[in-house]
Amino acid sequence: MSEPTDWNQPPRVRVRPPGPRSRRLSARLAGVESRNVTYLADDFPIFWEKSRGSNVWDADGNRYVDLSGGFGVAVAGHRNRSVMAAIRRQIGRLPHGMGDVHPPSLKVRLLEELAAVSPIADPRIVLACSGAEAVEVALKTARLATGKPGVAAFTGGYHGLTYGALAATDRDLFRAPFADQLNPHVLRVPYPHPYRPASELGREDVGAAALSRFEALLDTAEGASVGAVIVEPIQGRGGDVVPPRGFLSGLAALCRSRGLLLIADEIYTGLGRTGRWWACEHESVTPDLVCVGKALSGTLPIAACIGSQEAMDAWPESGGEAIHTSTFLGNPLACAAGIASLREIRKRGLVERAAGEGERWMAELSRTLARHASAGDVRGRGLMIGIDLVKEADTRQPDAELARHVVSEGLRRGWILLAGGPDGNVISLSPPLTLSRALMDRATALLDDLIGEVAR
Ligand SMILES: Cc1ncc(COP(=O)(O)O)c(C=O)c1O
Repeated sequence: MSEPTDWNQPPRVRVRPPGPRSRRLSARLAGVESRNVTYLADDFPIFWEKSRGSNVWDADGNRYVDLSGGFGVAVAGHRNRSVMAAIRRQIGRLPHGMGDVHPPSLKVRLLEELAAVSPIADPRIVLACSGAEAVEVALKTARLATGKPGVAAFTGGYHGLTYGALAATDRDLFRAPFADQLNPHVLRVPYPHPYRPASELGREDVGAAALSRFEALLDTAEGASVGAVIVEPIQGRGGDVVPPRGFLSGLAALCRSRGLLLIADEIYTGLGRTGRWWACEHESVTPDLVCVGKALSGTLPIAACIGSQEAMDAWPESGGEAIHTSTFLGNPLACAAGIASLREIRKRGLVERAAGEGERWMAELSRTLARHASAGDVRGRGLMIGIDLVKEADTRQPDAELARHVVSEGLRRGWILLAGGPDGNVISLSPPLTLSRALMDRATALLDDLIGEVAR
């Protein structure tokens, strides 16, 4: 595929970010938004005004390169022309429908297109308005299909913050204030993190150790209530963790032998990000249910839970009241965006591009950053890459302070970066899959510079 040349401009910083307009907006926001939502500080945030391709512009006219892809959403580039044209066409015809009563005709097309790329043959699908809602649908489906209330979920997992999803998410910060209202039947299982293995897994063959630990947990009283397993094939917000080869296929085999439903949360990884349409494909795994979001429309809020017909038929046939739905289900603008976005991914060969360019960039990052003891691990797949920053190579102690420096100083130079992982020490790269090679190389030099600035 030819290199996309459009809208891959280098940063252009005119006013030191955050500039005066962003600062004024921060002050106004503090007067109207709940204080929990937007992090406001001297060096954060900038307010976005415009976007195109790999670039975004802020309220002060600075141009940035977005290495986060707007939380991994903008796979075909921000404000992708074809997707925008589809939304414009649709807005002139039908901007809202009655999703589960008198649906917009586009809902049928989006579901057909999604079914055509689904990793599950002849699937049945439920649309949702956010990733977390798609997870809710998966968890409800599992409850109906298995008759069991329990769910196994992994350490470091992130599945969203609504109550059902939050029970499966593993981060105390999010869970602790609501712990007494969460599904008590969640079995927490260690995820095989090759760089930071849980002590109970040892250091050798963490994938196999995680599988035996899981099997042992299933044999406890707590394990008896488990009907389903929810897993990210590659953990995203948990710090871009790629489990050892064989883990996912082993997990799928275990689920089959124990009669458990396998839910793959591909909200971050799905639709090309990892160099395959689905991250499960790296191990030829076919889950029972798959959650997809972010890249589905590349722009508007829409997500889906895709399931085997057998699992999905556990839902009762609607007699006029769907037992899971919502006002904006199958919103026609989001459906139009979804159809156009799927077409762009296919037409521009973005899955293949993520595989090829991702591999090249990750090798380059590993080579360049090897000179910094604080760049403990560079890992990922496709264009989902994490740089694990540590205080010392030997102890692997997470260095969140260095990550904060990289994010904040990167912003000042015109690069949008995010720090992830439970300790906030992993620089997480999930750019548009259209990011040019030239910008990848500039980003490598930037990270080399920023990491090197803080001598340890
Ligand atoms: C793997 C995974 N699952 C679920 C979610 C939740 O999606 P949303 O934020 O759209 O609710 C996310 C969001 O980052 C995610 O990465």
